[in-house]
Amino acid sequence: MHGISAPGSGAGDRPTPLQPHCHRQSFALLFCFAVFAKRTQGLQYDKCLRGRRNLVAAERRTALGLEAPARPRLIGRRYPPLVPVHPVTPGRIPQPPHQDAMRRIAANASSQLAVLNLSVAYGEQTIVQNVSFALETGGIGCLLGPSGCGKTTLLRAIAGFEPASRGEIRLHGAQVSGPGYTLAPEQRRIGMVFQDFALFPHLNVSRNIAFGLNGLSGIERRRRVGELLELVELTGAARQYPHELSGGMQQRVALARAMAPRPQILLLDEPFSSMDAELREQVARDVRDLLKREGITAILVTHDQLEAFAMADVIGVIGTGRLHQWGSSFSLYQEPADRFVADFIGQGVLLPATVHDEMSVSTELGRVVGERPHGLAPGTLAEVLIRPDNLVYDESSPSRATLVERGFRGAKFLYTLRLPSGTEVLCLVPSHHRDAIGEEIRVRLQADQLVVFPMGG
Ligand SMILES: Nc1ncnc2c1ncn2[C@@H]1O[C@H](COP(=O)(O)OP(=O)(O)OP(=O)(O)O)[C@@H](O)[C@H]1O
Ligand SMILES: [Mg+2]
Repeated sequence: MHGISAPGSGAGDRPTPLQPHCHRQSFALLFCFAVFAKRTQGLQYDKCLRGRRNLVAAERRTALGLEAPARPRLIGRRYPPLVPVHPVTPGRIPQPPHQDAMRRIAANASSQLAVLNLSVAYGEQTIVQNVSFALETGGIGCLLGPSGCGKTTLLRAIAGFEPASRGEIRLHGAQVSGPGYTLAPEQRRIGMVFQDFALFPHLNVSRNIAFGLNGLSGIERRRRVGELLELVELTGAARQYPHELSGGMQQRVALARAMAPRPQILLLDEPFSSMDAELREQVARDVRDLLKREGITAILVTHDQLEAFAMADVIGVIGTGRLHQWGSSFSLYQEPADRFVADFIGQGVLLPATVHDEMSVSTELGRVVGERPHGLAPGTLAEVLIRPDNLVYDESSPSRATLVERGFRGAKFLYTLRLPSGTEVLCLVPSHHRDAIGEEIRVRLQADQLVVFPMGG
């Protein structure tokens, strides 16, 4: 049989195939459904993208002091519900138990910014854990750490975009964040410079800078823009558009725009990351001079230590949400508080050692004496930090090492040397030395500052 005859078709008993007809209908239905589904999905995707873009734009406008922060309508999983905003009432909420040092920081009225035992969480996940530091007026601080450690989250909490789940943030002694308590970002007088500068492409340099100067008269606004153009040395580029400027010039426009409303604190989230390494350090130094000239307190976020050294007075090293050390670049390098900082800052190797006495340790490269007591008992198994400049090329030394790798560093070579135990150490050697890979050389250990950690501690 081929099929069933259609009634009234006049075909009599001639069978009409039903299957192709059914298929046509099903295909048509399926096609309509697919088009509808695709369109709905597309619309939802567009809506989602628009929402995300709007949210980012709104946060940027807020950071420029133009409007209140985005409302929860746009807040997705990544953006927890906003905490009700109350006027600042210092000490209104119960204070978390502070460590002594933190009490001293809080009591110090000259601190422009004090972050006290601060924790910030996204849902169940705590990203920033019990972080405390303070910054003096006019100081430049830097949050330095590997990608994903929570630097931006901490910066966003300071700006008021993320609530504190524990601890608090104080500006000039007034609490602006605490558990269940967040002062709105636009009330904090905080300026932000974003990683991609976020300049308005359709506005020239002057108009970009004037963007956040809402409350001023035309004359005042022009005067302030003129001041800033002079400050960032862009007077000649006032009428140019962002696409006509170099990366460094765009960066200075972004900075001038953030500085225009005279913020209490300027927050800079990896503002030099789109520049190449050499320019980055130079621009970081220029920006530092500029901030110092204006007496602006600032916090820079970066994962580049050279940038941090070039710009900051004080640096906080962060690892997985925890602040390991807050100090000068010198102290981070010479007196790292723990293994994480020792490993993250500068180059170096932890060499197994045995404590000899309160000032010295013994290693396979001989005994090394520091200038200050290291605090470990004689006989303790330990590790001592050996920086490349702690090893000296010395043909009269009894310690031998094999050259494994040689890196050109301008006036010096960075040698990777293998010790008889198999441990590899780094050594800076003047570039007139021409040792071949695999050759054995003699080195001497020399350190003024001993950085010793108990083994496995
Ligand atoms: N809104 C959010 N919701 C949930 N998790 C988030 C949110 N923002 C960041 N995270 C997570 O928090 C962690 C820290 O992110 P954060 O952006 O603070 O790191 P970062 O140190 O600034 O990193 P990078 O150097 O790459 O910018 C990451 O694991 C990230 O996935
Ligand atoms: Mg970040």
